[in-house]
Amino acid sequence: MEAPFIFGRIATAENFTDRQQETAHLVNNFESLINTIIISPRRWGKSSLVHKAATLAQHEDKRLKICVVDLFNVRSEEQFYTAFARSLIQGTATRWDEAVENARRFFTRLVPKISIGADPMNEVSIDFDWEEMKRIPDEILDLPERLAIAKDIKIVVCIDEFQNVAEFEDPLFFQRKLRAHWQQHQKASYCLYGSKRHMMMEVFADPSMPFYKFGDLFFLDKIDTEHLVSFIRERFHSTGKEITDAACLKIVSLTDNHPYYTQQLSQLSWLRTADDCTEEIVAKAHESLVEQLSLLFANLMETFTFQQICYLHAVVAGEKAVTSAETMYKYHISSATSASRSLKTLIKKDILDSKAGELSFQDPIFAYWLKSRYFKAR
Ligand SMILES: Nc1ncnc2c1ncn2[C@@H]1O[C@H](COP(=O)(O)OP(=O)(O)O)[C@@H](O)[C@H]1O
Ligand SMILES: [Mg+2]
Repeated sequence: MEAPFIFGRIATAENFTDRQQETAHLVNNFESLINTIIISPRRWGKSSLVHKAATLAQHEDKRLKICVVDLFNVRSEEQFYTAFARSLIQGTATRWDEAVENARRFFTRLVPKISIGADPMNEVSIDFDWEEMKRIPDEILDLPERLAIAKDIKIVVCIDEFQNVAEFEDPLFFQRKLRAHWQQHQKASYCLYGSKRHMMMEVFADPSMPFYKFGDLFFLDKIDTEHLVSFIRERFHSTGKEITDAACLKIVSLTDNHPYYTQQLSQLSWLRTADDCTEEIVAKAHESLVEQLSLLFANLMETFTFQQICYLHAVVAGEKAVTSAETMYKYHISSATSASRSLKTLIKKDILDSKAGELSFQDPIFAYWLKSRYFKAR
């Protein structure tokens, strides 16, 4: 029997829970062509939410096309343009020969190199000469608007892992170029989302940055306990197994409502369950999850300085005033300046999260591992 949980892939259909408000909000933005920015740590469900809203919106509005550009592996401006053009050309064509024709028709100054693989539907690849593209990127950046007008449709371009543009060679210049083009579009809009909260905030919430006030910005939260509990129960039930409420609650609290980890721990618990899942089974599954990740965490520790580790120690121990003389002495933190430097780096590295002055770990399993294993012996 196949396990009824998924993680590390986009959650769809019965694997997707809650998010009703966010979905409705996003569908409305898509249909009204409102530019949107979504920020949350990785694995909280951005890609899944966008996918769900895109599917719904396109179903409701047949004249709306949504194209997703994933910047996961994109590290340069050149790769960006190529991925962008490919997604738009393919996303707005229903047949591969139409994609080829569009590529020829919509580029007049840039000459695309088109190659067709054995399975044309999935293997039409479009490339450009980088020197040309750098000189005249307009044809690519205005492609959504031009396609939308020519085909009499609306287009929303969703760009996943958008924070990667901050690492391009001249990110400010590049962002200015994007904004200058995109803000003029009437028939196309943009949904930009990404993980590194710190970087995304720099790009979108800093008044001196080109993308400041570009659109409707929202933070995606984790999923409520209530929804996760009924989700877990329902998924167990769908395979003929049951789970107690206490066990569901335990999964959610051990994973701190983290959507990815909730599914993963549910899966591990499900695998250990013959008929009825109990808290004991969840506890064992949790230990195995921590064990499974411990090598990864140990490697992560090697990327920290001694002072950063001391800082983590104090946070794990629940110290509220890390920079008090007593706490600094206890955890070998050398000075208040050092503490604040450590904190800054740990936030930048997406290890810690600071919300309304309250520090928390982005990864609940890492926090548990630190507490129960790494710092245990000290
Ligand atoms: N609405 C949801 N319902 C249930 N599980 C979800 C939901 N959203 C995300 N998840 C879980 O989290 C994992 C990561 O989701 P994803 O959309 O890839 O996050 P992100 O794009 O923010 O990194 C999914 O594989 C799934 O296990
Ligand atoms: Mg994602």
